[in-house]
Amino acid sequence: MAANDCFIVRPGGALRGETTVPGDKSISHRAVMFGAMAEGKTEVRDWLAAGDTEASLASIQSLGVRVERHDTHTLTIHGGNLQPPAGVLNLVNAGTGIRLLAGIMCGQPFASVLDGSEQLRRRPMKRIIAPLQQMGADINGVNDRAPLTVKPAVLRGIRYEMPVASAQVKSAILLAGLFAQGETIVVQPGPARDHTERMLRAMGAQIVTEGDVITLQPGARLRATDITVPGDISSAAFPIVAGLLVPGSDITLTGINLNPTRTGLLDVLRTMGADLTVTETGLAAGEPVGSIRVRHSALKGAEVGGKVVVEMIDEFPILMVAALFAEGKTVVRDAQELRVKETDRISVMAAELKKMGAVITETPDGFIIEGPQRLHAAIVDGHDDHRIAMSFSVAGLTVDGETTVLDARCASDSFPGFAPTMSGIGADIHVEAINA
Ligand code: S3P
Repeated sequence: MAANDCFIVRPGGALRGETTVPGDKSISHRAVMFGAMAEGKTEVRDWLAAGDTEASLASIQSLGVRVERHDTHTLTIHGGNLQPPAGVLNLVNAGTGIRLLAGIMCGQPFASVLDGSEQLRRRPMKRIIAPLQQMGADINGVNDRAPLTVKPAVLRGIRYEMPVASAQVKSAILLAGLFAQGETIVVQPGPARDHTERMLRAMGAQIVTEGDVITLQPGARLRATDITVPGDISSAAFPIVAGLLVPGSDITLTGINLNPTRTGLLDVLRTMGADLTVTETGLAAGEPVGSIRVRHSALKGAEVGGKVVVEMIDEFPILMVAALFAEGKTVVRDAQELRVKETDRISVMAAELKKMGAVITETPDGFIIEGPQRLHAAIVDGHDDHRIAMSFSVAGLTVDGETTVLDARCASDSFPGFAPTMSGIGADIHVEAINA
């Protein structure tokens, strides 16, 4: 897709059939970064080739790591020997990319600068700078934002109680901890996704998780391992909600990551009355994988707050769409982290949904939606935020007339092929170039 591409969405018939979604974004970032550190050849299959993860891949190549690309989704990473980068490491729009790589860079005997797009430069970095500095790292930002400058320093393990449940912060600390003297302990206030712990353990790191306390002993050399990336449940969320909302739909998504730290949306949708059948079929990259069958369902409102919020943090834009069609009130609390994602996802969704006639009450840490509401087609803006652009495409399937989602190229930051995948199960979504 090109910079000015938009999605054109029309309502149509029921969604039917079986499909899958691209590889998990979180795991794909980690596969290339941890593979770069591990000694030997890390073979990665079903890797997500998307805007965010390509930025991580390019960064590890700038660090002198040789990568063989057999096809778009299959890589061999020859890891174990990071070299000083030739230039600035550009993570573009990838928050996971910059925060995890910063943790790794703090442990290297050379200096580096990590930067990204204007959007990434607006995102908070103090959350990683402060704990990394406590570990002795020489890392600084510009007003606590990217670009981040890292210089060599001796690191020591710390015990860190995270003020927010964030997998990116947890991972940055654990990755720096690999290079520190003494153990590193991270205490998380909630069950943030645990892909880092799973993958590092598979590569031979000594990491123990007891409840919300994660303890890492430094010193183990990471060994390369084979990684088959499961489908991303955060991408599956869009066809799932589309299947629930479009009458007569019956779709099955296969090969989806069912890691319990990621499946909060399924739990919430079930309490809203969703007809979902989840079947676990095996393991990929040490993560449970399976299929999800979705049938059109009449939804009712729900109260969402507490521990489940972090388990579905990227799914709130699409939950907002579901809530608009649900009978009764949906109240979301404890989700203030949504305000510091690629965009302020509460404000941006509320403002753009208003163009379709929706009424949403914003609160500092969430929103209130009284449903069901009758929406109409409109021209809406994706705000260079992939999950927002895809949420509006799903909303467009449920209203009369033609919805245009401007600035939709960003969908390929996490879900390349979103429009053809949705068309494959019967949705009328296509990409059109806009002449600026
Ligand atoms: C991610 C963690 C989450 C999530 C992001 C991916 C990760 O961010 O929103 O899309 O791969 O670790 P936070 O850790 O900031 O909550």
